Amino acid sequence: MLIRVCKISDLIDNKPMKFSVSKFEIVLIKIRDEVFTIEAYCPHKGANIEYGDVIAKEYRIRCHLHGYEFNLKDVRLVFKPYNRDGNWYYSNNLRVYKVKIINDDIFIDIDK
Ligand code: FES
Repeated sequence: MLIRVCKISDLIDNKPMKFSVSKFEIVLIKIRDEVFTIEAYCPHKGANIEYGDVIAKEYRIRCHLHGYEFNLKDVRLVFKPYNRDGNWYYSNNLRVYKVKIINDDIFIDIDK
C-alpha cells in the first residue's frame, strides 16, 4: 500500500528530514535526484537518525550518537568506529522503505 509522505520540493539536498506516516516514523534523504527512505531510529542504539550526517559522495549516513555509518543504497552497516567485535558493537543493517515518486509527490510502500 502506497502512502504519500511529502513533495520532493519539501526536501533539502543532503538533509535528513523526519516524517510520521501512519504508524511509521521515517527519515527521507534527497541526494541529487535520488530519494532514500529509512527508519527514523538508528538500528544500533536507537538515536534519531534525522540528526545524522549525510556523506553524499558515498551515499552514506553517519549516526550522530556513536558514528556508525550505513550505506543508503544497499542499507548495510559499512563503518563502526570501534575496532572490536562484541555484542555492544553489533548493529543490524538499516531498514529502508521502498519509495515511489509520482510527479512531485513521494510515497512509501509500507507492504515491502
Ligand atoms: S545509536 Fe546510532 S551509532 Fe549508536
